[in-house]
Amino acid sequence: MKKVLVATDKPFAKIAVDGIRKIVEDAGCELVLLEKYADHADFVRAVEDVDAVIIRSDIADRRVIEAGKKLKIIVRAGAGYDNIDLNAATEHKVVAMNTPGQNSNAVAELALGMMVYMARNSFNGSSGTELRGKSLGIHAYGNVGKYVALIAKGFGMNVFAFDPYVDNDTMLADGVQPVASAEELYGKCQYVSLHIPANAQTKKSIGYDLLMKMPKGATLVNTARKEVIDEEGLLRVFEERPDFKYLSDIEPDLKNQFESLYAGRYFFTPKKMGAQTSEANVNAGLAAARQIIDFFENGNTTFQVNK
Ligand code: 3PG
Repeated sequence: MKKVLVATDKPFAKIAVDGIRKIVEDAGCELVLLEKYADHADFVRAVEDVDAVIIRSDIADRRVIEAGKKLKIIVRAGAGYDNIDLNAATEHKVVAMNTPGQNSNAVAELALGMMVYMARNSFNGSSGTELRGKSLGIHAYGNVGKYVALIAKGFGMNVFAFDPYVDNDTMLADGVQPVASAEELYGKCQYVSLHIPANAQTKKSIGYDLLMKMPKGATLVNTARKEVIDEEGLLRVFEERPDFKYLSDIEPDLKNQFESLYAGRYFFTPKKMGAQTSEANVNAGLAAARQIIDFFENGNTTFQVNK
């Protein structure tokens, strides 16, 4: 009997785990659950005799992949797969997949939620500002970016986007103004929401020069990855521009410097919260389970990311 391990340091909602279990058991496989594990070594041990793994932001590095002697497939229930060592997976003939789009609305709602929170001065009772009429730049117009645009337009924001991989007509059809470069986007928009993946090209790519282009009263919103930010550069921006704010769905490495110097100008979720809704857990978790069973039964590799 094939074994499917769900290894989630940040567990799925119970309803999602129940749904995953049903899909796995209905297909004649066994579900193994490893949640809130204390140590990466626990994950390495748990993978030893399983055929498939479902993870979230859990680190599937070379140690994990090499420990999985029977491992055939690893599915990241979510969008970003920067936590999987794709080279190691390919070398060991392990198929790596993600579940694109399944948790996008949850992430987009958090981005707008954090924007409202900051615009209203953390709900401290003082007069804040509104989002209506403000410009929002979406940096990368993928699944999350599209939902951000949809919600922001509901707020009455003027929405722009930069994405060299998406054609202008797609954006225009959504009522979003395409711009030709990141520089133009940051130069135009009071709010910028980041949706770029973390990879060799994007790491530390958002820094001083780009952020200094933003108009007065700027807010950078990061529900992507902390790794895409050049934190030293951002701190320089904070020092030179008291009007600049930063919202991030995970604490930066240099969190202490923001905390000691810039109270009221930042908000960080303590643990990545973007996809932490039951709906997103169900969507992404069940998609991951279905993709595994479809791979075992039919060899379907549609969502493979290490082809
Ligand atoms: C993603 O890449 O899908 C999101 O960042 C969600 O990550 P999480 O599953 O760790 O919450």
